[in-house]
Amino acid sequence: MKPATTTRSAELYRRACKVMPGGVSSPVRAYRSVGGAPPFLADAQGCRVTDEDGNQYLDFINSWGPLILGHSHPAVVAAIQAAAAKGTSYGAPCRAETELAEKVVALSPVADRVRFVNSGTEATMSALRLARAATGRDGFVKFDGCYHGHGDAFLVKAGSGLATFGESSSLGVRADGSRGTGGLPLDDEAALEAWFAERGAETAAVFVEGIPANCGFLPQRRAWMDKLRAVTREHGTLLVVDEVITGFRLGPGGYCGREDYDADLVTYGKVIGGGLPVGAYGGRSEWG
Ligand SMILES: Cc1ncc(COP(=O)(O)O)c(C=O)c1O
Repeated sequence: MKPATTTRSAELYRRACKVMPGGVSSPVRAYRSVGGAPPFLADAQGCRVTDEDGNQYLDFINSWGPLILGHSHPAVVAAIQAAAAKGTSYGAPCRAETELAEKVVALSPVADRVRFVNSGTEATMSALRLARAATGRDGFVKFDGCYHGHGDAFLVKAGSGLATFGESSSLGVRADGSRGTGGLPLDDEAALEAWFAERGAETAAVFVEGIPANCGFLPQRRAWMDKLRAVTREHGTLLVVDEVITGFRLGPGGYCGREDYDADLVTYGKVIGGGLPVGAYGGRSEWG
């Protein structure tokens, strides 16, 4: 293998760094803390990817989740080619959109109507807006370790949760961008009860991942999830299960389907687009 500084990947990395911060479009791909140049990928088939220098790797990333069939599955490639030949974006309704919505609704135990967006981030941001509109309340709760995309409101540090509203974990988020956000510890019934005793009437939504993935796949205790359901119902707060990772992957109905868990709203992303940028959020018709 050539020395790392003279590879095609290294050359492409130098070019990329001139025009993109860190040479990447997402912080998770940045190499600053790793050192050296990232392999620049040129081709991907099945479970293998090949970089610009011809090195082949077994791919454990799978584009961070969406590629449940692996890379470049012939059926997926053929479907994309056939659709692209008829136009890639209309800015008007089309049959395929309705067919996808029908499939999602048929599989989702939570949503009997969905709205499509372009990413998981947009799905969670939109679900929060919907919850605020439906309840007329401002505040919401997320749990430490759960990731819900990079919408301003979700970029919150845990803070002390109860006593304070969340503090933003990113520069560039307005001081009021994460106002009203409570960052609570997972699986802490006392903290949950204390929050709701004090702020239940102003809490529009609670967001949770049934199996928080970004902190290491932590299946949640059923009794704790049931507590969450009961407390939110009692206070008229909408319970949003973020299924951007688990949706259609943990099982056809995602976490809620597999665990027979009742949520008010649900968010999808990743596998719903099979590698293309699609997200969705939905719930029962009464919410929108
Ligand atoms: C649970 C969860 N919600 C939301 C998101 C945001 O999705 P996206 O990266 O498509 O914006 C992610 C991304 O990893 C996620 O894991």
